[in-house]
Amino acid sequence: MRLIFIVTLIVIGLLVGGAAAVAAWAWVQASVDTAGEVEFTTPLAIPPLADSHVDAVGRRVFDLTATEGRHDFGAGPVDTWGFDGDYLGPTLRARRGEEVAVNVHNELDEVTTVHWHGMHLPAVMDGGPHQPIDPGQTWTPHWLVDQAAATLWYHPHPHGETEQHVYRGLAGMFIVDDDATDALDLPDEYGVDDIPVIVQDKRFDSDGQLSERRSFLSDSGLLGDTVVVNGTAGPYLNVTTELVRLRVLNGSTARTYDLGFADDRTFDLIGTDGGLLAEPHPTDRVMLSPGERAEIVVRMRPGERAVLRSYPPDLGIDHPGGRFVGRDDTLDVLELRAAADLEPRPDVPRRLAEIPRLDPTEAATTRSFRLSGRNINGERMDMSRIDAVVEAGSVEIWEVRNADGMPHNFHIHDVQFQVLTMDGAPPPPELSGWKDTIYLPPNVQFELIARFSDFIDPDTPYMFHCHLLYHEDRGMMGQFIVVDDPGERPDPVEGGSGRHNHG
Ligand code: C2O
Ligand code: CU
Ligand code: CU
Repeated sequence: MRLIFIVTLIVIGLLVGGAAAVAAWAWVQASVDTAGEVEFTTPLAIPPLADSHVDAVGRRVFDLTATEGRHDFGAGPVDTWGFDGDYLGPTLRARRGEEVAVNVHNELDEVTTVHWHGMHLPAVMDGGPHQPIDPGQTWTPHWLVDQAAATLWYHPHPHGETEQHVYRGLAGMFIVDDDATDALDLPDEYGVDDIPVIVQDKRFDSDGQLSERRSFLSDSGLLGDTVVVNGTAGPYLNVTTELVRLRVLNGSTARTYDLGFADDRTFDLIGTDGGLLAEPHPTDRVMLSPGERAEIVVRMRPGERAVLRSYPPDLGIDHPGGRFVGRDDTLDVLELRAAADLEPRPDVPRRLAEIPRLDPTEAATTRSFRLSGRNINGERMDMSRIDAVVEAGSVEIWEVRNADGMPHNFHIHDVQFQVLTMDGAPPPPELSGWKDTIYLPPNVQFELIARFSDFIDPDTPYMFHCHLLYHEDRGMMGQFIVVDDPGERPDPVEGGSGRHNHG
């Protein structure tokens, strides 16, 4: 008897010890720190500007082809997907007031879509899950570019498959120009002092291929331990001008970055998702959750090197689970190498853009959205359910809250919105401009305000969703339509957006 007792004790002891060891191992493994470890030996790839031509009816026409490819991130060729190439796609560029059309060819073996993230355009042109492109087919959306100059982007949005398509490499930038921005003295020479910086994280498996396996402890999706910029691992950029403007896009599927420089230098945040801020905001950090953009202007001294780094982001998550969603990670991103002689550039202008504030007293409707688990207001995405019916031309307030202990963010198609309040207070400078995606720290109430100006279409919904693509794919998404007269529609399904009309 005694022997059995002792053996049992030993076995239990081993199990407990084993579990503790596994937990300790998982804890250590969960965090990545590459500060000072990345050798920046590869010149940063700059996505080419997409060719276009103006057709007989005056439209600027682009072509984009989604294909399979093999891309070298730095350790040999890897199976990837890209637009017009092996990985990522060219930068599309158009001017406010232009009609554009894009022939999107799908040369993949599966259905995809291309969504114009941040663009104000008709729902049938939006490229969400309702505009699938079959293999071998071409889809040609067209629209009038009618919004402020901004750094937008495009990426697939197929139902339930977005994470995989983006992770494999389907994404690119779409830069909108306008006269007001051209009149400002900002660095604007593409690839010289105006640089696209698409930041993504990758994980490679033992064969050197892209791993698509999420750690079972990560509730937010796949987090990589290798940061690539424009598809380049360990990138450096030769800077030849005193000021350099970085158009930073978080093109990652799940990871939030808190970007700053290794020497903590101050830079100017000049723009966010939907365009320039009213005035530059001097800061030493800019946090970007998946899908968000920031334009920053950095001052360089001759001959110096400056490393752009992602510091542990303040996700608003204090419990240990935060470690498994990237909260404790430090990642080196990009090295800027200044030439011995730098071309002079004028200071960033003190005034950048007019941002007329949307007036909450004008709001016709307030809706509330609670994000938790994989749901919004307790519902999973259903392509046949409309969650909100919006009156064309109206201003609405959307109260949005992350009601979970885990990271989420919130993206609305069709509009650029303003943050009216954050826990009742006016937004900080980095949230003071036009936004289409915002990070939602747990249990912080946001009031977003937007005008749904036009594009009536009772049959085709726009999406709103968490842009952590693993969550989006699993149902953290809803649909709204813009109609002439919402009174003619039966109210959206119960449990949809908690809607109340004012007055
Ligand atoms: Cu960038 Cu609905 O997405
Ligand atoms: Cu979008
Ligand atoms: Cu989420």
